[in-house]
Amino acid sequence: MQLAHKTIKFIPFPFFVIDEEFQILEVSEKSMEQFPTVHSFLDLVDLSSRKKAERFMNPVVSRNKVELNLITKHQSLLLFDVYTQWENQERLFVFCVEKQESIQAIRSIIHKLEKQLENDDLSLQEKQEQLEMTIRNMQQVVIHHDNLSNIGKIASSIAEDLKKPLISVRGFLQLLKPYLVELGKDHYADIALDEIDHANNLIYQFLDATNISLPQKEQVNIQKLLMDVVEKSEAAAYSVNTEIKYMKEQILPVMNIDRKQIKQVLLNLIQNAMESIKVSANKDNGNVVIRTELTEKTIEISVRDNGIGMDRDTVKRIFTPFYTTKRKGTGIGLALSLKIIENHGGLIDVFSEPDQGSTFVVVLPLDE
Ligand SMILES: Nc1ncnc2c1ncn2[C@@H]1O[C@H](COP(=O)(O)OP(=O)(O)OP(=O)(O)O)[C@@H](O)[C@H]1O
Ligand SMILES: [Mg+2]
Repeated sequence: MQLAHKTIKFIPFPFFVIDEEFQILEVSEKSMEQFPTVHSFLDLVDLSSRKKAERFMNPVVSRNKVELNLITKHQSLLLFDVYTQWENQERLFVFCVEKQESIQAIRSIIHKLEKQLENDDLSLQEKQEQLEMTIRNMQQVVIHHDNLSNIGKIASSIAEDLKKPLISVRGFLQLLKPYLVELGKDHYADIALDEIDHANNLIYQFLDATNISLPQKEQVNIQKLLMDVVEKSEAAAYSVNTEIKYMKEQILPVMNIDRKQIKQVLLNLIQNAMESIKVSANKDNGNVVIRTELTEKTIEISVRDNGIGMDRDTVKRIFTPFYTTKRKGTGIGLALSLKIIENHGGLIDVFSEPDQGSTFVVVLPLDE
């Protein structure tokens, strides 16, 4: 029998949208693959977990995660972490993450590492890719859904859970390291630790992006802040043959802003500028110029580079969370920056031409 509910392609986990009577309204393709077709979500819950499910999937319950035994197509019963989020107390988003899935990737890293010690053949790269895939899949969930904040919340609690096994593997590898040193194979551990740190960083950035706090404002000397930021970026700029200049053209008023957040925005913009120079024809004579412009009601801080620039289609997409054209990029920098600036009542303008470079202008309101 064909059911009337819609299928959602892009969500990489079993995902359901149900109403308050547990009737299934929408499912992801992964749900179709893994679960038998039923009308009510409760029909997928094993009798042993059903009471728990009914209690838990109630709009007054504030927790958003529960373990449930679900009936799957192929292996009958499996234990899932079930994450839920109500939308207006009418529709419930339900994400099901197989209990073993997140730990499995980690287990196989350890297993592989042990094996590689035996046969001298290291290919942790694959594992890293697998971890990155998991994280990217989570990111896809966030990008493609209209209701970004709801899904963001769920995705970040999934990320929280993923983070824990990574941290414990890190500990495990550190414990293992002395033995590896003895065997003369400690570089294995170094590579593995690096990769775990990279995966961890992705997760932290992901969490940061979905949980930006409101600005904690204080009186800030912008000129000094800009000088700090430039000083902080100088070494990195030098290593990519780039000169970074702040043109102190005018006296600026003290501003009421969140120092850390605005600093982070400027560092993100400079980082992007340097990355764009690195892959451009100007990679041996890069320039990043920072200017300020005071208008009656605003202060504008521009960051200009002579890097690869962007075409119009790219410019349209750069503030979308997780949009990136870089192999190791996470695509969070600008989404995060924009959110910070908007929380300050400002905006970010972009001017860019392919092969000519880009200028990002942060416009902040002066105090009301
Ligand atoms: N100065 C720039 N010149 C050219 N392209 C840029 C510039 N700044 C941003 N972009 C484009 O915008 C995309 C998104 O930038 P964003 O900073 O959000 O993510 P990212 O740099 O790819 O990754 P990360 O999360 O590590 O910052 C980049 O991948 C790049 O394509
Ligand atoms: Mg960036």
